[in-house]
Amino acid sequence: EPHKNENVVWHRHQVNKASRAQQKSQQPAVLWFTGLSGAGKSTIAGALEERLAELGYHTYLLDGDNVRHGLCRDLGFSSEDRRENIRRIGEVAKLMADAGLIVLTAFISPHRHERQLVRDMLLQGEFLEVFVDTPLAECEKRDPKGLYKKARAGEIKQFTGIDSEYQAPESPEIHLPAGDASIAELVELCLESLKERQIIR
Ligand code: PPS
Repeated sequence: EPHKNENVVWHRHQVNKASRAQQKSQQPAVLWFTGLSGAGKSTIAGALEERLAELGYHTYLLDGDNVRHGLCRDLGFSSEDRRENIRRIGEVAKLMADAGLIVLTAFISPHRHERQLVRDMLLQGEFLEVFVDTPLAECEKRDPKGLYKKARAGEIKQFTGIDSEYQAPESPEIHLPAGDASIAELVELCLESLKERQIIR
C-alpha cells in the first residue's frame, strides 16, 4: 500500500529476508500463541524458545506483559486498545521475521479479526497460530497473578473470559491441550509441527 505522503517511498535493501534466514539455516516464522490469561502462553513459548536456542536457532520472544511496559505502554484493555496492541506487535513480528528470525509471541489476542490481520501481514505459511487451549475454569483455578479474583470482585473491568470476550481460533496450525499436559509434552508438539512444516530441520 503506498504511503499517504508521495515523497515517502519504499526502499529495497540488498540483504533480504531469505539471505538473512539462510545464514541460520532456518525459515522465518511467527508462532502466534493465543489463549486466556493464565493459560500458559508465556511459559510454553519460553520453554519452546529455550529448546530452539539449544538447537541453534535464532529466535525472539515477544511477551504481553513486557511489551506493555514499553512499545505499548500507552494502551489499556478496551477493544480499541487491544486492537492497536496486536497491530503494533504484528508489525514488530513482521520486521523480525524479515530479519530471518523465528518469532514467538505470547498475547491473549482475543479477537479473530486481529489475528487474521497479522496473518495477512505475513507470507503464506509464515504465520502459525498456536492455540493454548486451557479451559477458563483451569485458568481461574491457577490464577497466578490473582487477576481472576479481582475481576470476579469487579475490581478489574473488561477482563478476558469474565466480562470481555475471547474468540477461540477455529483452525489453528497448532492446538495445544494445555489444561492437562506437561510443558515438555506441549513443547514437543510444537517442535514436531515446526519440523513437519520445514521451519526447522
Ligand atoms: S491483549 O488482549 O492481547 O491485548 O492482552 P495482552 O497484551 O496479552 O495482555 C494480557 C496481560 O495483561 C494482564 N491484564 C489483563 N488481561 C486481560 N484483560 C484485562 N482486563 C487485563 N488487565 C491486565 C494480564 O496479566 C494478562 O497476562 P497473561 O500473561 O495473558 O496472563
